[in-house]
Amino acid sequence: MAANWKMNKTIAETREFLRDFIPSVKDVVDVDMVIAPPFTALAAAGEAMRGTPVQLAAQDIFWEEKGAYTGEIAPAMLLDAGCRHVIVGHSERRQYFHEDDSVVNRKARAAQKAGLGVIFCVGESLDERDSGKTFDIVRRELEKGLEGIDAGNLVVAYEPIWAIGTGKTASPEQAQEVHAYVRDILRKRYGTAAEEIRILYGGSVTPENVNSLMACQDVNGGLVGGASLKPDSFAKIVCYKKEK
Ligand code: PGA
Repeated sequence: MAANWKMNKTIAETREFLRDFIPSVKDVVDVDMVIAPPFTALAAAGEAMRGTPVQLAAQDIFWEEKGAYTGEIAPAMLLDAGCRHVIVGHSERRQYFHEDDSVVNRKARAAQKAGLGVIFCVGESLDERDSGKTFDIVRRELEKGLEGIDAGNLVVAYEPIWAIGTGKTASPEQAQEVHAYVRDILRKRYGTAAEEIRILYGGSVTPENVNSLMACQDVNGGLVGGASLKPDSFAKIVCYKKEK
């Protein structure tokens, strides 16, 4: 279960969240927990998470190692702050910051080269879904974005854009349909290793709907925005009840 805090929380708020959250999940042994705070809170979060099962992720990365790239953050800097993963290709970055498939691919490659796990996001807009393009979009994003990427520390997140922050969740059937399709594409690229790649669902995941989403065969976890900002709500999601 991965928390994407987006542009939320100061350093103090991050520390306060972790002070409550970490003890509340101390008995969790079978769910990997990842939190992606904003850059400014990474180091403080990394310190608070040290020695705990909660893992740190960044929300973005740049592909160069260092140099004159004002405002950018290098892979080694993320490792330095304690990150083990990075979110790449989130729809908000594609939409607001014009990241195309080749930018997303360069970021994913740089992350893997540095030893960071990649949480690779794909998903269609409402218009694209309504005009029957969901599978085409998802296929293009995966085919172009995953060029040169290993299956090893790869996680894929399917996040329908129309479900992000809208309170409109994909139904379990809608999620499973696309997740199964993602799995097929991963099989073509990675063979049997595709069975081990975790495919997360993202888009208005809450403590109320997590069980039914997680009951789907190809839904292996969640990428949670809004409902990850409160410790008790994210803890409830982490402690979802398996219906399988
Ligand atoms: P949401 O965001 O849970 O607030 O819909 C999910 C995401 O964008 O990762």
